[in-house]
Amino acid sequence: MARNLTETRALFERAKQVIPYGVNSNFRYWGDDTMVIARGAGGHIWDLDGNEYIDYRLAFGPIILGHGYPAVVERVAEAIKEGTLFAWTTPWEVEVAERIVRLAGVDKVRLGNTGTEVTMHALRIARAHTGRERFIKFEGQYHGMHDYVLFSTASSLLGGMGSRRSPINMRVSSGIPEGISHYVINLPYNDLERLEETVEARWPDLAAIFVEPVMGNAAGILPQPGWLEKIRELCDRYGIVLIFDEVKTGFRIANGGAQEYFGVRADLVTYAKAMGNGFPIAAIGGREAVMGTIEPGRVAHGGTYTGNVAGAAAAVATLDILETEPIIETIFQRGQELMDGIHKILTRADIPHCMTGLPSMFSFILGVEEEPQDFRAYCGGDDVLYERLVMALIERGVMPDSDGREPWFLCYGHTPADIAETLTAVEDVVKEVKRQV
Ligand SMILES: Cc1ncc(COP(=O)(O)O)c(C=O)c1O
Repeated sequence: MARNLTETRALFERAKQVIPYGVNSNFRYWGDDTMVIARGAGGHIWDLDGNEYIDYRLAFGPIILGHGYPAVVERVAEAIKEGTLFAWTTPWEVEVAERIVRLAGVDKVRLGNTGTEVTMHALRIARAHTGRERFIKFEGQYHGMHDYVLFSTASSLLGGMGSRRSPINMRVSSGIPEGISHYVINLPYNDLERLEETVEARWPDLAAIFVEPVMGNAAGILPQPGWLEKIRELCDRYGIVLIFDEVKTGFRIANGGAQEYFGVRADLVTYAKAMGNGFPIAAIGGREAVMGTIEPGRVAHGGTYTGNVAGAAAAVATLDILETEPIIETIFQRGQELMDGIHKILTRADIPHCMTGLPSMFSFILGVEEEPQDFRAYCGGDDVLYERLVMALIERGVMPDSDGREPWFLCYGHTPADIAETLTAVEDVVKEVKRQV
């Protein structure tokens, strides 16, 4: 029997009267299937009609402990009783920075509120540091909503990206000035030859190489052995600032993020999402020499809300728990069980597929068996079948994103029973979809 969505749909209609498309981020718009959520607890959420879902979207990744995690909520509630913002440094900010320095092995930290904000500032710091203006990013990678990085992201159509030999920057949105395209060079991920030849030809103009160490916006495609090391080597050789965008991987794939997991250090690292378990808080960390480029009156970084008490207290509480309890290990175990279970079910059903990503943020691509190494290869998968499977899962109370580019995120609140229930639902849905083919 289909879910009752009467209240949910009614509120969505009301939202559309006053909010364009009824959502405050275009990514949340699913047409008539757009959800309105009333509450969350642990690994579960409930819509306005009381339908319950095991949540694998986790707000696109920030929820690392679980929704409404008591130790975080209580710490924030206590802290904000004494004020939220002073335009002066607070003890909370110092403690967040000390914890990030310790966990992530960076020298210095500045706080922000969102991933977009910190990637924007990181780019400015890299430019000021090098005195150069262009930067390289990779096709299918997303670094937020500011104009400089909205080219050839995972929202772009492959048809417009040109050939692998000479990729074309695809603007993701109207309203981005034509001239901005001049500053960005998009290359296929994991393509050592293309990267090396581009850097050798253009290094005098290159301020930064911006990289998501795991393609967190393209199904979690992993770096090939040697890829991150090669980027590091080229940046060292040509004085380019290596920026790891760890907005998704930070405090999710290891306490020290991708730098720790892959053993490669960046010059600047951007964090957001998991560091505050859902509160708006972000950070730029980096090497002393590069972070030292920030200078009052000369190199701008700031914002009214940067380091605000609510976000900073949430980060202190979250990082404290990550540091003292086996959170990531537990999440990896559960995620691995889920990945293995899905792989078995799809194999038994004879559905060609490959599993991608890491257990705390994984996905699978249908219709291809070889693990894709870049966004171009990802586009060879069967998105339509994936979406059908996921929409049927949601009907059964299991909610990953219907877009396979967005990984399944795991949190500490997901229980072994959730994993078992999810696998039963996947098994049912795969059978159902097979019957319909
Ligand atoms: C890798 C990466 N960088 C930056 C951002 C932007 O972060 P925010 O949505 O907090 O602005 C995202 C958002 O998903 C992201 O995945």
